[in-house]
Amino acid sequence: MAQRKITVIPGDGIGPDIIDSALQILDKAGCDFEYEFADAGLAALEKHGELLPQRTLDLIEKNGVTLKGPLTTPIGKGFTSINVSLRKRFNLYANLRPVISFKGTQARYENIDIITVRENTQGMYSGLGQTVSEDGCTAEAMSLVTREGAERIVRFAYELARKENRKKVTIVHKANILKSTSGLFLDVAREISAAYPDIETAEMIVDATCMKLVMNPEEFDVIVTTNLFGDIISDLCAGLVGGLGMAPGANIGDNAALFEAVHGSAPDIAGKNLANPTSVILASIQMLEYLGMQDKAEAIRRAVTAVIEEGDRTTCDLGGTHGTTDFTQAVMERL
Ligand code: NAI
Ligand code: MG
Repeated sequence: MAQRKITVIPGDGIGPDIIDSALQILDKAGCDFEYEFADAGLAALEKHGELLPQRTLDLIEKNGVTLKGPLTTPIGKGFTSINVSLRKRFNLYANLRPVISFKGTQARYENIDIITVRENTQGMYSGLGQTVSEDGCTAEAMSLVTREGAERIVRFAYELARKENRKKVTIVHKANILKSTSGLFLDVAREISAAYPDIETAEMIVDATCMKLVMNPEEFDVIVTTNLFGDIISDLCAGLVGGLGMAPGANIGDNAALFEAVHGSAPDIAGKNLANPTSVILASIQMLEYLGMQDKAEAIRRAVTAVIEEGDRTTCDLGGTHGTTDFTQAVMERL
């Protein structure tokens, strides 16, 4: 069989180091991928004079599956976010942000396993109708929710719950105030949920959800919600398990999927062998699950979990004293 090709964007700052760590681990686990490397972000701007070169877009489209390191978006100069551009361009409408707690870390809770399914292209981030009046005193932006957009993300969440043997989906909304947009989302979500009697459905208003996530996170399993609420809630969830260094994200559409660490390029520690590669390793586990390679995914998950929970070869952000390469080595020894 031909080798599965994966597009790899090493990215900026700590990106190349943590991506290298993930690729070494995938190889050691026997995944047999062929990697096609592409530039984006600052690295691309310096080499090719643009943040998102055509060749990179072509490779993302051709291979369908991309593993991506964090990208630096230059400030000022009118650059738009590369991540937002990629989501729009490939219609990556589902953003999956799982968080799982590891024992023995400084995480606030020890038995959390929550996945946020965030609508990734509409809502307050539609980019539509952004105006500021001439006197600079009135600003407007359009929130967009369509029946089609709500249906596909809610169905995605329930199908995921079924596939992963999860018990409950919580629909998060603010339909009491945002009657049109959040109201439509909630109506559609209720309709879809009726087709999944095997899965418990809960409805929760977004502000109450934040409080309950902090107080009783064990009550949550799958959360499905609109773009802005999902952005905020998924970072809150990352905070429950020890921060962004432990949080991966998948951006999935019908024809392409992009897996990434959710943190940034961490310029303060770049090139110092200090970065924790866990989030991008967890993103590569999401990628394996997407490709139907559950055995490899499980094997890597067990190895990473063991190294983090033993705690004697972890990176500084987890209270350890070891570098990126040594942590990676420890995970590979476990495989
Ligand atoms: P950041 O996430 O890069 O860093 C925040 C803090 O967390 C820093 O102290 C950093 O050292 C630490 N940190 C982040 N990842 C770590 C890891 N794996 N191991 C250990 N420590 C880690 O956020 P910041 O500084 O706001 O952004 C830096 C750049 O990254 C900016 O140019 C921003 O635009 C970009 N960025 C890119 C993202 C992406 O491509 N998905 C997401 C967020 C920011
Ligand atoms: Mg965010």
